[in-house]
Amino acid sequence: MRNIIGSPVEGEDFFDRPKIVANLLRELRDNQANILLVAPRRVGKTSLILRICEEWKKDPHKKAVFLNIEGCGDELAFAEKLINELMETGFNPDLINRAKRIIENVRKMIGLKSIKYEGLNVDLGDASEDDLRTLGKVLESIFRKIEEGTDNVLIALDESPELLLTLKKSDEIAGPKRVVSFLHWLRDMRQTYRYKIRWVFLGSIGLDNFVSNHHIHYLINDFQLFSLDAFTPKEADDFLKKLCTSSNPLITLNKSKRTEIIRRVGWPLAYHLHLVFHELLNSKPLSVTAAFDSLLKPENLAYFDTWRERIDAQFSEPDAAACKEILIQACQDPDGCDRGQFLAVLMTKPSADVEIVDERLSSLLIILERDGYLIRKDSRYAFRSFLLRDYWKRIHDL
Ligand SMILES: Nc1ncnc2c1ncn2[C@@H]1O[C@H](COP(=O)(O)OP(=O)(O)O)[C@@H](O)[C@H]1O
Ligand SMILES: [Mg+2]
Repeated sequence: MRNIIGSPVEGEDFFDRPKIVANLLRELRDNQANILLVAPRRVGKTSLILRICEEWKKDPHKKAVFLNIEGCGDELAFAEKLINELMETGFNPDLINRAKRIIENVRKMIGLKSIKYEGLNVDLGDASEDDLRTLGKVLESIFRKIEEGTDNVLIALDESPELLLTLKKSDEIAGPKRVVSFLHWLRDMRQTYRYKIRWVFLGSIGLDNFVSNHHIHYLINDFQLFSLDAFTPKEADDFLKKLCTSSNPLITLNKSKRTEIIRRVGWPLAYHLHLVFHELLNSKPLSVTAAFDSLLKPENLAYFDTWRERIDAQFSEPDAAACKEILIQACQDPDGCDRGQFLAVLMTKPSADVEIVDERLSSLLIILERDGYLIRKDSRYAFRSFLLRDYWKRIHDL
């Protein structure tokens, strides 16, 4: 198991979590569930789903496609990616090639401005067959074939809320409509072709957060939620032991050092343990304190920047500013703050309406808790990851 930092892991690099893998496979196989995998960023969602795809494909009658749709600029790019991945599985080449040709044509027609692009509803005009009238219908023709066949296909969509955000921002009026129409279409597909196709949605901005912010929760209420947590203390300890036995140069961490690391990260994510381990390899003599200190040096702060950047990407400007105020306040004390302290910080203008600010605070705290920034203990909210808390404090003090 290599000490890989940042990218999702596969194969030998994946530290097995057999119960979680078995539970998720059971939901998909036996209970025919479509899964919304919910977990804060960096908990290991992508790595887990890559493993699930591997396990799924061990059965010769099962195919799996994994799509990261973060970089897709529109529905057409999504369709292209889906079709390319299905092609890799060897599924019905005639049908896939036909869809590919249509999609290439649509691209050209958009370039020539000879059609009005309306997402999945783009009217392909003179297509002679009814099932090819729109882009959505072209994809549907593939799902229909899968449903009529003998193979089960797992489709995992990573970072789907990123695509939804792109669609939303594409146009002030048409953008939000495209989001609704895309989610509507996906739900129709899940419900119509439900025996042979299983779906897993995951992403760093929770789809559940996205839809509740936009009041369109009904479009994903058919999903079964599956939550993924950080390692248990036992898993974290085994993980560190495994990193030691496969490290080069070989290092030894005795039980008390491993316990100290787990205590000091506070929230044992594989990602954070990987980071600490990396710094440990560089510390001579081997010192846990030196490794933690090194992680918070200015040149290493980029490891945690994504947690700050995502706030700007995910929230409106005032909400992002309010979240940052909340986190700056919370990082001052390992035991965090109570609501009253946050409220006092947010009530900067004497004219602010306390009821409105209080309601906004409630919804932001729910999201910050759900996204893994904060954890609630009794009436206080504290940073969940001690590393992230120190990072927040450090960038605020800089
Ligand atoms: N089971 C695992 N075994 C080894 N490393 C893992 C595991 N899960 C996550 N990681 C590490 O954590 C980091 C984040 O994992 P990733 O799957 O990308 O998380 P997410 O998709 O939730 O953001 C990766 O760089 C990977 O190295
Ligand atoms: Mg991921």
